[in-house]
Amino acid sequence: MRQKPSRPAPAKGRVGVVVVGAGALSTTLIAGILAVRRGLGKPIGALTQLGVVPGPPERPGPVPVGQAVPLTALPDLAFGVWDILPDSVYRSAVKAQVLERELLEELRPELDVIRPWRGIFDPRFVHRIEAAHCRPRQGHLDSVAGIDKDIKSFRETAGIDRMVLVNAASTEVYQSVEDVHRDLGMFERALAADDERISPAMLYAYAALKQRIPVVNCTPSHAVNVPALLQLSEEMKVPVTGRDLKTGQTLLKTILAPGLKARGLGIAGWYSTNILGNRDGEVLDDPACLKSKEESKLAALKAILEPELYPDLYGGLVHRVRIDYYPPRRDNKEAWDNIDIFGWLGYPMQIKINFLCRDSILAAPLALDLILLIDLAARAGLRGAQDWLSLYFKNPTVRNGRQVHDLFVQRQLWEDGVRRIAGWTANGRGV
Ligand SMILES: NC(=O)c1ccc[n+]([C@@H]2O[C@H](COP(=O)([O-])OP(=O)(O)OC[C@H]3O[C@@H](n4cnc5c(N)ncnc54)[C@H](O)[C@@H]3O)[C@@H](O)[C@H]2O)c1
Repeated sequence: MRQKPSRPAPAKGRVGVVVVGAGALSTTLIAGILAVRRGLGKPIGALTQLGVVPGPPERPGPVPVGQAVPLTALPDLAFGVWDILPDSVYRSAVKAQVLERELLEELRPELDVIRPWRGIFDPRFVHRIEAAHCRPRQGHLDSVAGIDKDIKSFRETAGIDRMVLVNAASTEVYQSVEDVHRDLGMFERALAADDERISPAMLYAYAALKQRIPVVNCTPSHAVNVPALLQLSEEMKVPVTGRDLKTGQTLLKTILAPGLKARGLGIAGWYSTNILGNRDGEVLDDPACLKSKEESKLAALKAILEPELYPDLYGGLVHRVRIDYYPPRRDNKEAWDNIDIFGWLGYPMQIKINFLCRDSILAAPLALDLILLIDLAARAGLRGAQDWLSLYFKNPTVRNGRQVHDLFVQRQLWEDGVRRIAGWTANGRGV
């Protein structure tokens, strides 16, 4: 069902971004925004900063995104974080070893003052971290009240006008969606009963939605992306989006697969393997957490290739994804893909890809775009899952209907979404 955006309210005042998890991704995001603000680097990869969209019908030439729609300016973003470790954003950024030390030293005064609030931790959901900085566990409702308190005091002390909650915490163990996640009434009864199927990521999301704060989930964990919380986002009239930012290997997969399909080439198999050595990799070394990530990485190919429509080309496709924790590489991930394709008369060919990427460098601009665009969506009166933001995710949360994984279709949806909020004609797809 398509939503009709209203004319967005002006982007006046400060936006408080409250981030769950002050690890590699969020510290690269926060330090990166400060660096861009000071002219120390360019916001490469952020479409809100450097992208263009076609203008209105009467002037269809390219228009910078920031001129098409009213976006919050970077100096108006203020950050607060929760973590289960006590490190400041500066200390955590140093430990993450993504950004150069020289840059971090320059930004140190601003990064060091961002100290995490105590996180909500449940050892059943994340196994490999010794939580040294968390709230005492006194039941789900008490945890929600604690999150509320942090949000409210941040809002008051930092002079915040609007807020966005970003989940960038460690991947939680794989969880199937059960009855308590399917319906808001059952979810709330489960909250009161301290049900063990409700994870910390869901508690943060629930607390935010109750305060009408839009939620962005960068992780493969369910968080806001279960039917009960999507129902709450509709009822509270708050936009939400997620899951799992589309960065390295899946990004390339969703660029290449549509191209092979567009030329009618067959694919017999796609084998993908990764090594990564950051803390995210360490957490993923636990098989239960790894299952969350693998599930999120496997979804894309089938949806793009539509084997039901092309049984001769993709009916027998074998897709495997492996992730290995390999500490020497830190955040500098390396991914290998072997793609077995076939052409005329079934003759086989192979494609090999070796992508040496930087995970958080690819992810930070996506998180920035999502903060600015979900805030825009809220000001335009949009609510619930935002399909037009699928471009950013491995496992996009959609309102009604099927997930879109083809990067080029996602990009068109994104462009249509921006243009519809701008009040310009869209070419037939919904926001
Ligand atoms: N880094 C990337 O580029 C990237 C790309 C795509 C998706 N992601 C996803 O984003 C998430 C974060 O990635 P990262 O690389 O920053 O990992 P990270 O391990 O560096 O950071 C995660 C942080 O979350 C904290 N944390 C764990 N449980 C928490 C809780 N209950 N409350 C508050 N804090 C908690 C950890 O202490 C840690 O500081 C992961 O789920 C990852 O899969 C990351």
